[in-house]
This record gives sequence, C-alpha cells and structure tokens, in this order.
Amino acid sequence: MANQVTNNEITVSASAPSNIAIVKYWGKKGIQEPVNPSLSFTLTKARTNTTIRYIRSDTPLSLRFLFDGKSKASFLPKLSTFITRLSEYLPFLNQGRLTIESSNTFPHSSGIASSASSMASMAKALFQIQKETAPDEIKANEVELKSEMARLGSGSACRSTLNGWVLWGKTPLISASGNRYAVSINDRVHPLFNNLQDSILVIRKGVKALSSTLGHRLMDQHPYRAGRIKQADANIEILLKALKEGDFNAFAEVCENEAMSLHALMMSSSLSYTLLAPESLRAIERIQKFRALHHLPLTFTLDAGPNIHLIYPKIQAEIIVPFVEEHLQPLCENEEVIYDRISVK
Ligand code: DP6
Repeated sequence: MANQVTNNEITVSASAPSNIAIVKYWGKKGIQEPVNPSLSFTLTKARTNTTIRYIRSDTPLSLRFLFDGKSKASFLPKLSTFITRLSEYLPFLNQGRLTIESSNTFPHSSGIASSASSMASMAKALFQIQKETAPDEIKANEVELKSEMARLGSGSACRSTLNGWVLWGKTPLISASGNRYAVSINDRVHPLFNNLQDSILVIRKGVKALSSTLGHRLMDQHPYRAGRIKQADANIEILLKALKEGDFNAFAEVCENEAMSLHALMMSSSLSYTLLAPESLRAIERIQKFRALHHLPLTFTLDAGPNIHLIYPKIQAEIIVPFVEEHLQPLCENEEVIYDRISVK
C-alpha cells in the first residue's frame, strides 16, 4: 500500500486477490449475509489493484470511477450502494470528492470473477484513508472490518481481504466464524493443500448471461433451498476434515459435488438457466477419464460460468500440464488457459 497525504487530499493504493470457492456461497439473507458457510482459497496472479484519491470538502460526496483508465458509468450504481453502506463505518465518506481507479492483472473477459478482488481492494483502500485521516473514528478490529466492508460490496469479496484458505459464514465447527466477515483457516490446513495449482480453462470469454446477484435471489424461493443449506453444511464438515488430514480424494469429492450442485441449482430454479457450455461438459469428461487412467490427485471446480478451474498439487504439474495442452486447451475460446495457483503468505 502506498499513501500520499497532504492537508486536503490523500491518495492511497491497495491490492487484493481473486478467490475460488470450493464450498459455494449461493443464496443470501438480510444485507449480504450468506445462507450457508463457504470456503475458498485466494489466487496469486489474478488480482485487482485500486488507487483512490480523496479530496476533503464540505459538499456531499461525489464519486468517479475509472477502470483501466477509462470512465465506467455502468459500474456506478453498484459502487454507490457500496459506498453508502460503508459510510456508516467510515465517516469521511459522507463528504468530499472520491476518485477510484481500478485495474485487473488478468484479462478483462477471461471469466475470472473480478467483483471479489475489486470490492476487496476498494474496501482495503477506503479503510486506509480513514486510518490516515481520522483513526479515532474506527470502531472495530482492522482485519474483521475490512472483510465486513468488502462483503457489503460483494459477498465473495469478504474472502479476498485475507490470504490463502478462508471461511465465511457461521459454522459450529469454527468458533471464530460468522456471517459478517471471513476468517483465515490456514492453520488448519495440511501442507499438501498449500501449493495447489489452479489452471483456468477459459471455455468462454465475456460477460455471463445472468449475474450472480440474480442467482442468489433465485435461491430465496428455490424448491431445494433447505436441502442445499444442509448439503453445504455437510460439505464444509467433510472439507475441513480433508484439508486438515491432507486427504485429496475427499477434497476432490466435495469440490466436484459443489461445482455440479451450483449449476444444478441454477437449472432447477424457477427461472431455469444454465451457464455451462458444451465444451465445459466435454472438458469434465476428459478430466475424469484422464484421472481414472493415471490415478492422479486432480479435480475441478466451476464458478458461476462455463470456465473450469483445474486443481492439483504442484508436484503433478509435470504430467498434468501436457494433458491440458493437448486435450483441454483446444476446447477453450482462443485456446486460452490461465495458469494460476493458491496464494498463501
Ligand atoms: C458462485 O459474491 O459475486 O462465485 O454477493 O451478489 O456480489 P454478490 O455475489 P458474488 O457470488 C459469488 C458466487 C459464487 C460462489 C462463491 O464465490 O462462493
């Protein structure tokens, strides 16, 4: 974080990673609280960098947003809601002039969820302004507050203010857990899971047909809502055990069960839809065949989109990367694969 402060003006920069959920957050209640706990890891290469310039004044807050140096008005409604929610925590946000500039380290239309890293980097930078200008007005613990603020922008963003393995949502299995902010669980994870690779098969570039926000809303009246919550609770328990014991097979089972369930929930909601592409299914079939043939620790997950996150320990890269190049890359749009990995401090 780099800060520049003068009497009436402050410029602050912050960065946050994207994350990929193994147990998915799908469905919310109240203001951005999840109906079930979720668990993810942060990525290394896919990040958002944000610089915020704040000029003090007595006038009500004015807001400008630039993405990759260009004004992006379409993002302003979501951003305004976010800033209004944050003004309760950061009183400086009631007045002055705010210019927010963000850029992603990953290609714009690669299908990597950018709202998590974007909202997390903004929450971190805005917190920093409050800390530099009026620290006495901060009423909560810094780590928790940054995560809580990011959550108010985008639920999954609260898992991106921390690094590595992160849990969000109340579960009796982790006493520090709660719905307001995420907590690190790095100290409960076997070393096997600290060098995971995430090779992202970009099956389709571009904006998805339906936003996650609408998907969450469809869970309110979903016929399988209660079953889904039960399933997520059970999967969290199995996953925590697998992570602790270094049990890759149990990890893979949860990973794929969650990925397929997420898309099944979309297909079976009142507004039935699918974000999967034929190539997504073809890739899954090839991954499962290859795994069965070589008995490898290899699994996959899906975000709310057609792209596939291929997950495996680093030591397997030597055999898995050539397989990706030969059998999976041709299924990707413009043959694009992004080789990322977990980030743990
Ligand atoms: C499928 O965090 O993008 O990626 O809170 O409405 O901004 P909002 O939703 P968002 O939902 C992410 C859903 C998911 C699963 C996950 O990351 O846990």
